Amino acid sequence: MRISVIGCGYLGAVHASAMAELGHDVVGIDVDERKIAALAAGRPAFYEPGLPEILASATASGRLRFSTDIAAAADAEVHFVAVGTPQSAETGAADVSFVDAAFFALLPHLADGALVVGKSTVPVGTAARLAERLAAEAPHARLAWNPEFLREGFAVKDTLSPDRLVYGIGAGDGHAASVLDHVYRAAIEAGTPRIVTDYATAELVKVAANAFLATKISFINAMSEIADATGADVTALADAIGHDARIGRRFLNAGVGFGGGCLPKDIRGFIARAEELGLHDTLAFLGAVDETNLRQRRRVVDLAVQDLGGTAAGRKVAVLGVTFKPDSDDVRDSPALDIAVSLQELGAEVVVTDPEGLENALARRPDLRAASTTREALFGADLVILATEWNEYRALDPAAAGRLVGERRIIDGRNVLDPAAWRSAGWHYRGIGRP
Ligand SMILES: NC(=O)c1ccc[n+]([C@@H]2O[C@H](COP(=O)([O-])OP(=O)(O)OC[C@H]3O[C@@H](n4cnc5c(N)ncnc54)[C@H](O)[C@@H]3O)[C@@H](O)[C@H]2O)c1
Repeated sequence: MRISVIGCGYLGAVHASAMAELGHDVVGIDVDERKIAALAAGRPAFYEPGLPEILASATASGRLRFSTDIAAAADAEVHFVAVGTPQSAETGAADVSFVDAAFFALLPHLADGALVVGKSTVPVGTAARLAERLAAEAPHARLAWNPEFLREGFAVKDTLSPDRLVYGIGAGDGHAASVLDHVYRAAIEAGTPRIVTDYATAELVKVAANAFLATKISFINAMSEIADATGADVTALADAIGHDARIGRRFLNAGVGFGGGCLPKDIRGFIARAEELGLHDTLAFLGAVDETNLRQRRRVVDLAVQDLGGTAAGRKVAVLGVTFKPDSDDVRDSPALDIAVSLQELGAEVVVTDPEGLENALARRPDLRAASTTREALFGADLVILATEWNEYRALDPAAAGRLVGERRIIDGRNVLDPAAWRSAGWHYRGIGRP
């Protein structure tokens, strides 16, 4: 099929490349000239495993091109809108102005029978509003909402082989569903579950999924606080409750908490939307989920100060990781970066390092001192904080690391190290909710 993807950030660049990989003829469009120039030259503007390979093969095949001109979308039969929906600073609500701008820019270029497909995560009600405008201004075109569930770090695999497909379609618009079936034929033939529903449900599926995941993480982090106060071990607790199939072990890892460009802003946007709907109490628990999550960052900073003997001033702290998760260079709302900045503000001499995220971290916080290698970051440190669980940090050898630091103290902010191995190498080891 002929496809356009409008917005080529973390979601759109992967989606455009994956659609071309599936054999479609794709144009990726973005207002950011530098991003488009880099993508057209086969260089993704961000780190995502597997993306350079499919981007290179798709551009070489001629099935994928890029443009900053929305008119380049005119030939497409299907238009995916994948622009950002950041948190609005004043209200916490999702800012849909980029979605609106992309949608209205696209309207004059829609061919007869074109299908506009929303991918961005939007407040419930957005699709119905845009469908009304479409019916009035381009009645020859239709709208569907097809939320995206990809995980950064696994984005290529998740896009090529999603664990489910959700289509929100207008009343009686079976044709939109069959067009999307055509787009995702490979996944559907592989048995991917597909849920065809209305706009509101499709929009809600995405934010409900993120709200549930955020709740699961904050739940185990709350348990880690109880564990710290009682001498219990939150990791064993998670293993034990995780054996219950109704609970499940995944996303039950206590640590510095969640971050990134989705979970924090999506739960805040969901709370704001519920309030607009007059449901002031309904999602109040998500406020507690958010607060528990942010408290984890402060808790790690407090533990660091405690381990440094009551003051961070003048002490050298090595922070391993700045991204919100491994296998990504994304530092949006990153707990690791927050912890580094907070300790620096307390007077510590912080040195951050990360395999992929340093450029983005320094773009946000040019005042941070960065080391390009773990070795350099560890050198002379009074305290080490493992803040993002990159494999390189999980695999650190406590004896070798011990020879580099000034003092053998580590806070394992992701509970991924073996406490016994680190302690027997002479380290003061502290996990989150681990005795
Ligand atoms: N990143 C993820 O893992 C992920 C996963 C699922 C859903 N989402 C959702 O997908 C959406 C995009 O997220 P992202 O992380 O890719 O954001 P992003 O900020 O990385 O990318 C958004 C892109 O849209 C472009 N853009 C803005 N206005 C435009 C316009 N009028 N025309 C063309 N391009 C325009 C921006 O220049 C930017 O490149 C958000 O709603 C997000 O919640 C993201």
